[in-house]
This record gives sequence, C-alpha cells and structure tokens, in this order.
Amino acid sequence: MLALLSLCLLLVSCMPGRGVETKAAAVSEAERWVSVEGGEDLTRHPSWQCVESVQVVDGRLVIEAGDGYVTPIHGDGPYLQVSGDFGLAATVQAATGDTAAIVACGVTPQGQWWQGVKRLDLGLETGQVSVHFWDGKSPEPAISRFYAARRLSDRTQLEVRRIDDTLVFYVDGQEVGRLEDPGVFPDDKVYLGANVAPGNTLTIERLTVQARSGQEGEVQIVDNTPKDAPVPSGSRLRELAKTRDLRIGAAVAPGALRCEPAYAGVLGREFDIVTTENALKFGPVHPERERYDFQDADAIVDFAEANGMLVRGHTLVWHNQNPKWLEEGEWTRDELVEVLREHITTVVSRYRGRIAAWDVVNEAIDEDGELRDTIWLRVIGPEYIEMAFRWAHEADPDAHLFYNDYACEGLSCKSNAIHVMVQDLLEQGVPIHGVGLQMHVAVNDPPRPQDVQANLERLGELGLQVQITEMDVRIRGEPTERTLAQQAEVYGDVLDVCLQAGNCSAFVLWGFTDRHSWVPDFFSGWGSALIFDESYAPKPAYDTLREVLAEG
Ligand code: XIL
Repeated sequence: MLALLSLCLLLVSCMPGRGVETKAAAVSEAERWVSVEGGEDLTRHPSWQCVESVQVVDGRLVIEAGDGYVTPIHGDGPYLQVSGDFGLAATVQAATGDTAAIVACGVTPQGQWWQGVKRLDLGLETGQVSVHFWDGKSPEPAISRFYAARRLSDRTQLEVRRIDDTLVFYVDGQEVGRLEDPGVFPDDKVYLGANVAPGNTLTIERLTVQARSGQEGEVQIVDNTPKDAPVPSGSRLRELAKTRDLRIGAAVAPGALRCEPAYAGVLGREFDIVTTENALKFGPVHPERERYDFQDADAIVDFAEANGMLVRGHTLVWHNQNPKWLEEGEWTRDELVEVLREHITTVVSRYRGRIAAWDVVNEAIDEDGELRDTIWLRVIGPEYIEMAFRWAHEADPDAHLFYNDYACEGLSCKSNAIHVMVQDLLEQGVPIHGVGLQMHVAVNDPPRPQDVQANLERLGELGLQVQITEMDVRIRGEPTERTLAQQAEVYGDVLDVCLQAGNCSAFVLWGFTDRHSWVPDFFSGWGSALIFDESYAPKPAYDTLREVLAEG
C-alpha cells in the first residue's frame, strides 16, 4: 500500500507543472508515521536489564544465544497498548548469514515457550528476511514467509506496521512483504522481544514505536516498572529476626537488582541473607569449559556486603542447569572427577570468606529415596557427594556446607533417606554442616508442622544445622482474601517451627516479590507465592512473619 502510494507520487511528480505540489504531498506522506511519546527509542528503558538473556552494553541490547535458541520477551513492559495502526522499527546488527529476529508478541507463553503464544518474528535468516507467526497451538510456526531483500548488511532496519488488518514489513525503509493479520494481537497488547538462533548474536541499537500522525493516542506505551516500593510502618523483618538470632533472607535475581530500584530497596531493607538464585549454578557460572562468568554472582555478593547481609551460594552440584559441554561430553570417570574438582575449587575459592554457606549438593535423592540418576552418579558413582563436600571445605574451611533438597521437609521416605545419607557422611568424616529444606509448597498442601519439627530435631541430634532455603507458598489462580490468609498461616507455621528448633539458623524465601518468582513459569496456573505482591506491597504473609518473629 505504502509502496504503491509512493510509486503514484513518483509518477505524479514526473508530470509537468506538478512538482511543487507533489513535493509537499511526499513530505506529508513521510510524516504520516511519527514516533510516539516515550517510544523514540525503547532500548534505553532500564527495565531491559531485568530481561533474562538480554545484556545492555553501551545503551544497546545484546542478545547472545549459546547452545539453544534464546527468545527474551519483555513481559512486564514497556509494552504497547494499541487501538489502531501502529509501527515498530528496530535498527539491528547481526553477522551476515546469522538468524535473528525482533519479536512482537500479542500473548506471552503460558507454560512451554510456544503454548498459548501469539507471536510474530521479523528477522534475518540465512541471508533472507523471514516472518514467522506462532499461534500457540504447536511449536511449529503457523505461518512462515521468506522474502528476498535487495540489500542486507550487518546493520539493518527491520520494521513492521499494522495498517488496518494488514501487517506490512519493511527492510531498510523498503517494503518487502505483507500479510493479513492472523490475529497476533488479540488483546491489543504488543510485547517486545527478540529471537536468536544458537551461536548467533543480535544487537538492537534502536527500537522505535510509531503511530500515524494525528492518531498518536492509538498507541500507548505501558511501563509497569515500579519506581518506589511502599514502606510499611513498624520493624523490618531483619531487625526482628536479629532479636531471635535468626537470619531471614531471599533468593536474588540479579537483573531485577540492577534495573528495579524498588527491588533492591525492599531486599536491603527487609533481609539479612541472600541466596544466588541462578547465578552460581553450573551452567550460568561456567558456560564453557574454559570460561567462567561471575558477573551476576559478583553483583549479588557486592550488594550483600554493602547491605550487611550474608550470602548463601547455590549450588555446586546439581542435575539441572548444567551446561551442554558438561552434559554432552563423553567423560571418563577421572576426567569428570577433575571437572568437578576444578569447578568447585574455582568457584568456592573465589568467594572464600564472602559466601557464608554453600548448597554443595542439590537434590541428589529421588522420591523413592534412591540416589537420583545424574551424570555425576553415572560417571563418578555415589562418591561424588563426599568429594564435593571435601573440595568445597578445602577451598573455604569457614563456609558452612549444606545438602539441599525439596519435598523432604516433613517425614517421608525421601527425608528418611536424606537422614541416612547425611548420617553416613558424618560417620565418614565428611565436612557437612547442615541440611537445607527447600520448602516449595502449595497453600492447600503444606507439610504438617509437627513433622517438620520432628525432622529438624532428628537432624539436630546428628549435630546438623537446618536452614529453610527456598520457601514459597503457591496459590492456584487469582489469590483471594481466604487463600492469602491461608498462605500467611503456612509461612507463619514454618517460621515458628524454625524458631522453636535449636538448630534452624536461617529462613530463606525463593524470591520475595510475586513480580519475580519462578512459580508461574514452573507450575502452570499457580502463582502469588511470595510475601510481597507485584508492586512490592506487603501481603498478609509478611505481617504474619513479623508477628511470629516478634512473639518471642
Ligand atoms: C529455579 C529458578 O528459580 C529459576 O529461575 C530457574 O529457571 C530454574 O530453577 N529448586 C532449586 C532451585 O534448588 O535452584 C530452583 O530454582 C527451584 C527449585
């Protein structure tokens, strides 16, 4: 349509005597699309630092894919609320031949990356321009189109406009194709993101949101980033916990720490111990055999020290979030022993004296009470567990070393097996100081407090500390007054058991705000699991924790 229009204008301009008029018309055509207020360049928005897989480098967004596709989509905003035509223009850089796209997403995934999604990708794919549409029903695109572009360099402007019911695509200002809108934006929302193929990198230099001139009101930029958190009156959790000789804490997402002042504010205000949520897992911290990436962990440890907090390092040995080079390597036993030794020694030594406690081994026991089938067990054998503790102890003799697991908080076959295992480790002189009980629980099915108490007691009899390491209490669907009150009770009960036990030294939540929680991504239909809501307002569970701490 636009190309056709410009062609007409070009023809008209060749007609004698019409030049002046036509020039004016051409100008007004170009002016038909204008950037909307606040949408001149969305790459500048600080909240991109919150989006996983996006790095902000010199004001540009860099998305680097490792072994798999990465598809960061900014679900929190800034996103667009559109009631009419809109345009999105991105200046991108990718190596010639790379496969990478900008993403305009109408509905973000519900569960798996493709489930329920409405997503449009406009990108570069092996020297062509590609458009893909996912309709949420299958991992295969429902529509794929490839267009040849006249010139494709490593800096390209990719642009999509919705004009009435048609999506029109432009590369470097030239229309390359159009598609009848298959219903990408059913809620009139446009979430922004990118998609990058394995081994490729996309840099987004500029991201402009446009509307038709005079109709700017049809395109709004919604920015939900909370600026300030409400400050409840009364004592902070950490002040109250201190009077009870207990550390109270939360797992930390480094992106949020960097980009949301409210996140850092509440974290520093309320807690005095933090756990590295993902930053020190094997894959994130040791992505290539010869390369470590300590950036996120350093940021967390620095923040903790600046705010008088202790740090729990999570986790040295696990079966999840391992890098591909490790999981797919063909190792002899000796080689894998060396990989593990080198990893633990490097990571623990780096933070010697700065990380007070480590989850040395995570989730090594399965529901039947057997050792879980992992690369470590298969290649090294059950000794990997004691090896890990010994190497961690050598690297930092003052750190408290934990075995950490889930679904073992009360009395069960799994918690029995853990009890037997840690007793055995102690008998062999393995340096283990405690057991971490994760405590990811559902509001309607918490462990019985008396069972947790009994479990803590029997571990205490072995001389072991216990820490509640990852507590969250998930609610199905929208929370109600009733479920929020139940949630508060579950939190309060567990804290109470911890306070009553002589050997429970920390009470740590897996995050603290519903704005940043793993629950909705991992338990479809569940959420609201933490003690602050998405705007950082305290929930009833927060008050209950304060009450229980104050009761002493
Ligand atoms: C979760 C993180 O919270 C997510 O961000 C990540 O994608 C997957 O892992 N038990 C653990 C934690 O020990 O490491 C897990 O953390 C949650 C379950």
